[in-house]
Amino acid sequence: MRILVIGSGGREHALLTGLKADPFVTDLHIAPGSPAHAQQATVHPEYSQVDDPARMVELALDIAADLVVIGPEVPLVNGVADALRERGVAVFGPSASAAQIEGSKAFAKDVMAAAGVRTARAEQLAPGVAEADIEAALDRFGPHFVVKDDGLAGGKGVVVTESREEARAHVDAVHAASNPVLLESFLDGPEVSLFCLVDGETVVPLLPAQDHKRAYDNDEGPNTGGMGAYTPLPWLPEDSVQRIVDEVCVPVAREMVRRGTPYSGLLYAGLAWGMEGPAVVEFNARFGDPETQAVLSLLKSPLGEVLNATATGQLADLAPLEWEDGYAVTVVLAAEGYPASPRKGDVITSPDLEDPTKILHAGTATSESGVVSNGGRVLNVLGKGATLEEARAYAYDVIRRIELDGSFFRTDIAARAAKGEISI
Ligand code: GLY
Repeated sequence: MRILVIGSGGREHALLTGLKADPFVTDLHIAPGSPAHAQQATVHPEYSQVDDPARMVELALDIAADLVVIGPEVPLVNGVADALRERGVAVFGPSASAAQIEGSKAFAKDVMAAAGVRTARAEQLAPGVAEADIEAALDRFGPHFVVKDDGLAGGKGVVVTESREEARAHVDAVHAASNPVLLESFLDGPEVSLFCLVDGETVVPLLPAQDHKRAYDNDEGPNTGGMGAYTPLPWLPEDSVQRIVDEVCVPVAREMVRRGTPYSGLLYAGLAWGMEGPAVVEFNARFGDPETQAVLSLLKSPLGEVLNATATGQLADLAPLEWEDGYAVTVVLAAEGYPASPRKGDVITSPDLEDPTKILHAGTATSESGVVSNGGRVLNVLGKGATLEEARAYAYDVIRRIELDGSFFRTDIAARAAKGEISI
């Protein structure tokens, strides 16, 4: 099977690593990819406009791809999956209409209301709304403000704060970019990321994971795309994943079918587990980053076959997924200045730089001096172990051997879970 992966980050490096291990996958390509992916796939840097359906169709047909796996949300929302399907190419990823579950938070709220799924109360503030209306809306929320960019922000457009000034500043910044704002009530309780393969009404969950979104230890600092994750969740009772599937993912999948926009691909449910059980914080239409790096490292089933079954409407016939025992932890090495203004172009050294079982490349490039930083989240380090503590120790051993000027990482990924400090 010849597969084209679209994207270039750590999530895509994890997808390539999983696909490479599948004996059915004979040929792997990535667009645009990064030099670090050349070990596993043919890299197509000239196809950098991943949100241009015509360009992606051109490449898929040129290499005669049997399956295209779309990593990021922007090509999905821009209809790359639709354009490929029109040309008869199997695609792992939802149509543009179904990807609105991530592309428009207001659309997602509407689907959840129709499906009876628990979520935060929300109000939208369109750009240009009167000053008094913004202040009145802020009065109705708080003391914990959740202010979201209701455009595509890749998980990065959310400010959660107890400061009304900061909340107001984010409203103004989002409006300045001509995007609507979504104000939400704050959902309490530990967060869960549950990724589900969805093919119409068939829903197959992967292992549950937890992301760490703030930049610094103890959940301090600005929100980021994610600074580290672990899986599975020792504090989540055994039947909880099924409960999320039954109460959240299946009702949403059915509602999407009912609307005539059936979902096909990966549905990412970001949840908070509060007093009444799981409530949705957000949906994404793609694999999450960096949770995917940890989750896929424990998958024993052949990834190409799994993604192909989803893409070709055969998910219901797929054998149950098999997983390694134990735990996986991923820790992000971020560039100085991330998330506001990451510094780029610094040389990275590590004995493990070319070992994708230990290091996945999220934002690197090559120069005459070697591998250099080329993004905010630069590397994702992986650790596995029989216990969460062992997986953590492994990952932190690897990350401490990396040298990158000015870089930083959180030292407490999975720490509270390993100490048994999280409960629901
Ligand atoms: N881990 C957050 C995201 O992928 O949006």
